[in-house]
Amino acid sequence: MLRTNTKLRATIALIITTFCFLQVTAGNNWNVPADKKTKNSTFKFDANTVKDGESVYTKNCVSCHGNPTKGNSLKSLNPVPPDLSSAKTQELTDGELFYILNTGRVIMPSFNNVLSEEDRWKVIAYIRSFNKNYVQQVSTNDATKSQLVKADIDFNKNTNRLTITVKATEKTGSVLLKNDEIALFANRYFGRLQIGESQRTSADGVAVFDFPKDLPGDKDGNVKLVVKINDDTYGEILRLKTMQIGIPTDKPALNEKRAIWNVLAKAPYWIIILYTSGVLAFGCVLMYLLYSLNRLRKAGNN
Ligand code: HEC
Repeated sequence: MLRTNTKLRATIALIITTFCFLQVTAGNNWNVPADKKTKNSTFKFDANTVKDGESVYTKNCVSCHGNPTKGNSLKSLNPVPPDLSSAKTQELTDGELFYILNTGRVIMPSFNNVLSEEDRWKVIAYIRSFNKNYVQQVSTNDATKSQLVKADIDFNKNTNRLTITVKATEKTGSVLLKNDEIALFANRYFGRLQIGESQRTSADGVAVFDFPKDLPGDKDGNVKLVVKINDDTYGEILRLKTMQIGIPTDKPALNEKRAIWNVLAKAPYWIIILYTSGVLAFGCVLMYLLYSLNRLRKAGNN
């Protein structure tokens, strides 16, 4: 009886310990695919890239991660965002850091469509500047390779679908880019509007997007499309195309309307009236004061 009890306890203890261990290791495991781990920046990190990276960091990361080495990350979050100068983070490869920035996880946001590929590498350059032992490996992929990539965009009026075919023109001929991540955006007044979810290209390099029927274009219905392609060999590629597929909208530009932020001649009427009557009232009070003073002076003289 006593012996089974001890055995049982030992087994439970073992299960609990294993579970705790798994929990702890799970916290550090980003499950980065092997081919992403070895990805490197195409440019060398130097004082300038670190400086640019610092300003990217200040705008996008400092609110959660705090300043590297200062231990001032946002402690109210669970998990607490790690100090990125810590040994644990610095053990990750550049490719792993890049992958984490791209995908995010629960609280940690994905920066794939927020920061350009260049800015993502620059912020990694900044993170690395806190590691004296860091030796950078620069990618041997030629950055100019991205110029070989073309995106053909077709629109089908009946189905309201955009078919995007991506290919690279190599000396040996055209290569269809399969399993590439494609994101589609429409340029708006402020930033870009993503259309649908990002997709992966099929075996013939094709991704299909449903285009919203009610998206406003300019007065002729033109919409500026931005196609973002992510390819392991050719890197990140942006292709722009203006297409007449939106709802024609005759929207005056923001600075043509009467609005608080505009010049006085184009300010809203209520501001002009309020301002003018204010100035008039002040003038009247001033006149009255001068008149009274004058009367006092005259009375004193008598
Ligand atoms: C909204 C808060 C938040 C913002 C903003 C944020 N992060 Fe994170 N980040 C986190 C959290 C929380 C974790 C831990 C996630 C986990 O382990 O699941 C994390 C994890 C990481 C990791 C993994 C570190 C490790 O050792 O495992 C890296 C690298 C990272 N963030 C970089 C960045 C960079 C660079 C930026 C800015 C471009 C940024 N983060 C912006 C919250 C944030």
